[in-house]
Amino acid sequence: MHAQPKIGVVGATGAVGTVTLGLLAERGYDHVRAFASGRSAGSRIPFGTDELLVEEATPEALGVGDVDLFLFSVGTSASRELVPVASAAGAICIDKSSAYRLVDGYPLVVPEVNGGRALESLERDRIVANPNCCTIPLTCVLKPLHDEAGLGRVRVSTYQSVSGAGAQRMDTLAHEAPADHDLVMDWTWEGDESDEEAKLRAETRKILELPDLPISATCVRVPVMIGHSEAVWLELERPLTVDEATEILRNAPSVRVLDLPSFPTPAAAAGADEVLVGRIRRDTAAENGIALYLSSDNLRKGAALNAIQIAELLLEGVAAAR
Ligand SMILES: NC(=O)c1ccc[n+]([C@@H]2O[C@H](COP(=O)([O-])OP(=O)(O)OC[C@H]3O[C@@H](n4cnc5c(N)ncnc54)[C@H](OP(=O)(O)O)[C@@H]3O)[C@@H](O)[C@H]2O)c1
Repeated sequence: MHAQPKIGVVGATGAVGTVTLGLLAERGYDHVRAFASGRSAGSRIPFGTDELLVEEATPEALGVGDVDLFLFSVGTSASRELVPVASAAGAICIDKSSAYRLVDGYPLVVPEVNGGRALESLERDRIVANPNCCTIPLTCVLKPLHDEAGLGRVRVSTYQSVSGAGAQRMDTLAHEAPADHDLVMDWTWEGDESDEEAKLRAETRKILELPDLPISATCVRVPVMIGHSEAVWLELERPLTVDEATEILRNAPSVRVLDLPSFPTPAAAAGADEVLVGRIRRDTAAENGIALYLSSDNLRKGAALNAIQIAELLLEGVAAAR
C-alpha cells in the first residue's frame, strides 16, 4: 500500500458520493478518482479546489488493479456487479448499499461500535458493508448503554430526510411548493412493515451481536433536506438513572449530548460529524425505561464519513501488517 492510497469513489456524482469527495479532500487524500454510470461519464466534478473527470464504472475499469481502496455508493444491483470485480483485483471495498450488509461472513461496521470486525475482512476478500443511515446513529447510542445496563427491548420511530433517497429526491424537494410537502413511506413493503424497518432491526442485531434483541421500528420520510432524526424508547435489564444514562452518552465516542433548552434537530446535525442526542428522560411506560431523541447527518456519519472511517481502519491494518 502506498503512503497515499489510490482511492476510487464509485457513485461519485450522487448524494453520498459528493459528500465522500468533500470529506476525502478535507482529509488531505489526493490520489482520488471519480466513477459513476455512463450517464455522467466524461463530466467534471469538484474535488477540493480542483476538479475530477468522471469515469464510467465498468467491471473492466474497476478490475484493472490500480486502485487500493474503492468507496461504493451506487445501488444494490450495481454493487453486486462491481464490488466482486474490484475485490478480485485486490482492492479494499467499502460498500454502502444493502448488497452485503446481512450476508453471513461480511462485516457490517460502525467503527465506534464494532470496528474490530472490519479487520476480519483482510483475511478474506477485503469487502466491508456500511450500515443503513438510521442504523449507524442508533447503534452509536445503544452500544454504550448496552455495555453498562444491558438492552432488554428497543422501540424506535424515525423521521428521515429526503437526501436519504438520493440526489434526484433532493432536487425534487428543492423545487416543490411547500403545499406539496407531506410525510411519505417510500420503501418496499415486506408484509406489514417496510424493508427499511426490517433493515433497521436486522442490522442493529448484527452489529450489536444481539441476534434476539426485541426491536421494532416505524420509519417515515419527512420533507427535510438533510438529517435523520429518531425517537428511541429503551428498556434496560438493569436500572440506570437519567443522570447516569446522560453521563454514559456524554462519554460515548461520536456522540454529542445536548441539554434542554437545546435538543437535536436535522438542521443542527447537518454538516456535523457527531450524532446529536437529547431529550434523555425516564420512560414511565416501561420498567427501567429510558427515552431519548437523536439527529444525525445521514450523508456524513450515516454514509460517507462512516465508510471513510472504516476504510481508515483497514488502511492502518494493512500498514501494520507490512
Ligand atoms: N443517501 C443516503 O443518506 C444513503 C445513506 C446510506 C447508504 N446509502 C446508499 O448509497 C447508495 C447511493 O445512494 P445516493 O443517495 O448517493 O444515491 P444517488 O444520489 O441516486 O446517486 C447514485 C450514484 O450511483 C451512480 N450509479 C447509478 N447506477 C450506476 C451503475 N449501474 N453503475 C455505476 N454507477 C451508478 C450514479 O451515477 P450517475 O450520476 O451517472 O447516474 C450516482 O453517482 C445507495 O445504495 C444507498 O442505499 C445512501
